[in-house]
Amino acid sequence: MRQLKTNVYAVGVIDWDRRLFDELIPLPDGTSYNSYLIKGSEKTALLDTVDPTKTAVLADNLVKAGTDGIDYIIAHHAEQDHSGSIPDILALYPEAKVVTNPKCKGMLIDLLNISEDKFITVDDGQTLSLGDKTLQFFYVPWVHWPETMGTYLQEDKILFPCDFFGSHLATSSLFVDDEQGVYEAAKRYYAEIMMPFRMPIRKNLEKIKNLQIEMIAPSHGPVYDNPEFIIDAYKDWVSDEVSNEVVLPFISMHASTGKMVEYFVNALIDRGITVKQFNLSVTDIGELAISLVDAATIVLGSPTVLTGAHPQVAYACILANALRPKTKFASIIGSYGWGGRCAEQITGLIGNLKVELLEPVIVKGCPKDDDFVALDRLADEILAKHKELKIAD
Ligand code: FEO
Repeated sequence: MRQLKTNVYAVGVIDWDRRLFDELIPLPDGTSYNSYLIKGSEKTALLDTVDPTKTAVLADNLVKAGTDGIDYIIAHHAEQDHSGSIPDILALYPEAKVVTNPKCKGMLIDLLNISEDKFITVDDGQTLSLGDKTLQFFYVPWVHWPETMGTYLQEDKILFPCDFFGSHLATSSLFVDDEQGVYEAAKRYYAEIMMPFRMPIRKNLEKIKNLQIEMIAPSHGPVYDNPEFIIDAYKDWVSDEVSNEVVLPFISMHASTGKMVEYFVNALIDRGITVKQFNLSVTDIGELAISLVDAATIVLGSPTVLTGAHPQVAYACILANALRPKTKFASIIGSYGWGGRCAEQITGLIGNLKVELLEPVIVKGCPKDDDFVALDRLADEILAKHKELKIAD
């Protein structure tokens, strides 16, 4: 339990040991479930709760904060890492009402069986007075669920945007004390969770741009006392600008695709193109997701397995397709033994990517001289495309 400003407390929980979110997303640095207590002169509000596995810690923090009662539980988002403790907190503080928007209310009823009479719903822009402190609610849909909203504490100029601007980072620092470290964690968070919603995020950035913000207190990771740092990072990530980079996730079973990847990576480096190569048999998919935030091009490398792509490559395709990065170009390289439709299958799996598909290089068996020439041709084509975008010399 720590104080952000007078009568504004962080009462959430650091989860040092969590290593996976949604049974999908790696959390190499753990995470936190941030919950904030605001004591006004007349009313007290709790902004979000915590993951249900940590309810007891939240309850203890509320006691340590001298919480006599809670009038409002502000539910910004129905996902259970923030809402999951609401039923238990309602049991401990039965006078509390859950304040949220109508869509989130419906989802909380669906997910947590909270009784309808416990809710107060608010409109976009509506204010709620706590006496000497005023909460103003902002709907920020699709960061990253449709019901998400944030709160602006007017008197203290603190924005509580829920997952928006967050980072999966367990740290003892209440505020950002290592901007580079937090940048990396926030970029991973953006890549894994927010990237599919680049366009809604642009609208939401526009929506908050006229607020005077002294602090951004997200629902994961440290609080930003230099808000421009994370706002500028988001503006960059959601822009249409791409980098002179090729992301190359691949698998090789018997070294043929591996030889192609090795040759091709060198060919790209020789042309002044940055390459991020990921051996999918050992890679952290979060690192792959981060690399897709900026890269102009993705090239998938796969052997042919039972007529199609290697399942690990298919998985990477499904992931990239779901994350919808702003990548502009794609291609495929790989090898086969006696036939198959690997390239066609991969192309079909990445339909969400608005990319121009460059001629794949698929070879029979191990790569021969002509195949290396074809890889050089593909590297030339990528360089030419990057030059058209004015991101390569
Ligand atoms: Fe941190 Fe979308 O929950």
